[in-house]
Amino acid sequence: MTTDHNIFRLNDNSMLPLIGLGTVGIQGDKGIFEILSALNMGYRLIDTSTNYDNEGIVGEAVRRSALLREEILISAKLPGSYHEYDKAFLSIQESLHRTGLKYFDKYLIHWPNPKDGKYVEAWKALVDAQKLGLIKTIGVSNFEPSHLDDIITETGVTPATNQVERHPYFNNNRMIEENKKRGILTEAWSPFGRGYLNDVLQNATIKEIADKYEKTPAQIIVNWNYQAGVFTIPKSSNPKHQKDNINSINFELTEEDINTIDSLDKGEAGRVEGQNPNEYHEYV
Ligand SMILES: NC(=O)c1ccc[n+]([C@@H]2O[C@H](COP(=O)([O-])OP(=O)(O)OC[C@H]3O[C@@H](n4cnc5c(N)ncnc54)[C@H](OP(=O)(O)O)[C@@H]3O)[C@@H](O)[C@H]2O)c1
Repeated sequence: MTTDHNIFRLNDNSMLPLIGLGTVGIQGDKGIFEILSALNMGYRLIDTSTNYDNEGIVGEAVRRSALLREEILISAKLPGSYHEYDKAFLSIQESLHRTGLKYFDKYLIHWPNPKDGKYVEAWKALVDAQKLGLIKTIGVSNFEPSHLDDIITETGVTPATNQVERHPYFNNNRMIEENKKRGILTEAWSPFGRGYLNDVLQNATIKEIADKYEKTPAQIIVNWNYQAGVFTIPKSSNPKHQKDNINSINFELTEEDINTIDSLDKGEAGRVEGQNPNEYHEYV
């Protein structure tokens, strides 16, 4: 088990643990117990979003947990319909009320929605919400290099993290490099290709590597991210899977194995749902 909760240092000097719990599909009363299972197992960050429709139970799990509020990191996201400055501010406040929390530990702009051209306004709202203490760490998600440069140039504030799609079929090494150049930590979403949307966890090459280390394919993928300096947020409702995923850095992948996993990349065709952030727009 990884009991060290301070694995990744961000550019605002806050720390992230090895992984967080992704929560797409974790909802309702059952979802509260799935989140509590993860917290009891040692998870310390929960990744949520307005469009996962579960902010209420995320807050409820925090309240029911034996952990103190300050021991848990809640990471939430700004939906696409709220990029205008005033709307963004209200959206942050509404999300806080839905969770029943006083602040978010981390808050990201979910998608840049570049054709709307309002992500700079949205970023200014996050910067100001941070000053007011509503958010501790501010970051973005699915931002391409030009989007990053726009917000940094306009505000002088660099996001702490950029959460992007990354799994063996779409390794996004390009964005890891682009983020690193700007002092931004990469977070990987859908690290297992969302399970049912592709067969990353059944891939024969990854299974072969997993057998060699006597680990599961999921553990190989979490470690592949860790060794690349990437924070990741695998979703699991299953305690056995939750345990596997957090217990995955007590071995070291060789450079050859890392290169082999990197070589499974399928370029644009590897994206789980074809969501290229330059084209794809998301609204809630
Ligand atoms: N920023 C964005 O735009 C964005 C987009 C997509 C997702 N996300 C975030 O990223 C999180 C993760 O992505 P995701 O939910 O799309 O999918 P994912 O984490 O790639 O895959 C989840 C699937 O893998 C299974 N799984 C998990 N651990 C496993 C293990 N050890 N062995 C076998 N199967 C395992 C889960 O089943 P069980 O539940 O049965 O274990 C589930 O079916 C999301 O939940 C969300 O928080 C962000």
